[in-house]
Amino acid sequence: MKLCVIGTGYVGLVSGVCLAAKGHQVTCVDLNPDIVAMLKQGKPHFYEPGLQELLTSVINAGKFTVTSSLSDAMQGAEIAMIAVGTPSVDGEIDLKFVRSAAKEIGTFLKAADQHTSVIVKSTVVPGTTDGVVLDEIQIASGKKLGQFGLGMNPEFLREGCAIEDFSLPDRIVFGYEDKKTLERLEALYAPWDCDKLAVNSRTAELIKYANNALLAVQISAANEIANLSAAIGGIDILDVYNGVCADKRWRPIVNNQRVTPGITSYLLPGCGFGGSCFPKDVEALRTLGQNNDSPMRLLQSVLDINNEQPSQVVKILSQQMGSLKGKKVLVLGLAFKPDTDDVRETASFKIVQDLLAKSASIKAHDPIATSNFKKLFGEPPSDLTFVEDWEEDVFEADVIIIATKWDEYKNITNLNLDGKVIFDARRLFDKGRLKNATYLTIGMRTRGQ
Ligand code: UGA
Repeated sequence: MKLCVIGTGYVGLVSGVCLAAKGHQVTCVDLNPDIVAMLKQGKPHFYEPGLQELLTSVINAGKFTVTSSLSDAMQGAEIAMIAVGTPSVDGEIDLKFVRSAAKEIGTFLKAADQHTSVIVKSTVVPGTTDGVVLDEIQIASGKKLGQFGLGMNPEFLREGCAIEDFSLPDRIVFGYEDKKTLERLEALYAPWDCDKLAVNSRTAELIKYANNALLAVQISAANEIANLSAAIGGIDILDVYNGVCADKRWRPIVNNQRVTPGITSYLLPGCGFGGSCFPKDVEALRTLGQNNDSPMRLLQSVLDINNEQPSQVVKILSQQMGSLKGKKVLVLGLAFKPDTDDVRETASFKIVQDLLAKSASIKAHDPIATSNFKKLFGEPPSDLTFVEDWEEDVFEADVIIIATKWDEYKNITNLNLDGKVIFDARRLFDKGRLKNATYLTIGMRTRGQ
């Protein structure tokens, strides 16, 4: 099937490349000529495991091209997929890129003698596809729904394992407004064998938001109880959640064996959720509720808890150590989660800001996200420097904070940590592995500490 994908961010590029890998003929469109030039050489403009190799292979197979001309990409396309950014402005979704993509498609369709189904892939609030998008296309093309098709196909990709998530999805949702579009979506995803749900566009849109919002609720609820556990003292929240998960509704027994569903990882205490999706999507849903006279009180609390959660790190450190002034602190991990160089809404930024406010002397490390992290600061603060070989700097540090769960930081337990304070904000390793060091974390305070 011939496909045009508008936008080459995480969603557009990963989707385009993975669909091309299944044999579809894909042309991606991006307005930025530098990005187009890089992609043409098989180089993605962000890090995602496996993407570079797959991009190169679909280019070599002649299945994938990239251009800055939407009308070139639209020639003969049966599907035009909108995968542009939907940023948050004052907590509300900003649809300007979606609008302009829909308008451009409409302008193309006005003069074109072809029937194309326009599919929204971007995460948009319910009522966008059959509202704003439909209006923009109809006005620009002078055509009515039926002369073109319309649908919504949400993505459920996690950064760091996006290729795997696209290749082996839990389900695929076909939001559709006309039968031809449903048939095209079924044909597009025919190579995938998984649950497929056909619904209207606004249902598809809400499935995406509800999915992210409920996971975010789980994280904030678990973190709030973890904070209480630390406040009481003498309890490790992990022991509490082990007890909770013995309930068959969390961990069912199948064929006499305990099964551990993925959702249980959302009970692990940490310094909150970040990234480009959870914070933005929960905010957008909260605001959508407000605007529809259906206040989302729970989601407001989820955001409040999450905004404050990174500050647990410096709060606990200060309680344990007194003043942090002049203390040498090594922060390990700057990306919002491992296996990505994305630092959007990363807890590490808030932790570093809290440490700077306490006049600590900070060194920071990340395997791949350092240059993106530096950009978060206009002028780099003098008390913050970045290191490449973190193991060397462990010896000098008074405090080491593990802020992102990169595997390589597990090696820390093999180093000499005598007299140091280790703050494992992500529960990377078992506290029993530390000798002669003070272990601190979220969700646990030794009695009397
Ligand atoms: C999330 C969803 O998981 C995807 O299904 C969705 O497609 C994507 O948003 C999106 O809307 O595009 P992503 O933001 O890449 O994906 O990353 P997650 O792995 O879900 O992590 C989000 C945040 O939650 C991170 O800060 C992570 O550290 C935190 N998290 C995740 C936890 O605190 N605990 C967990 O068990 C998992």
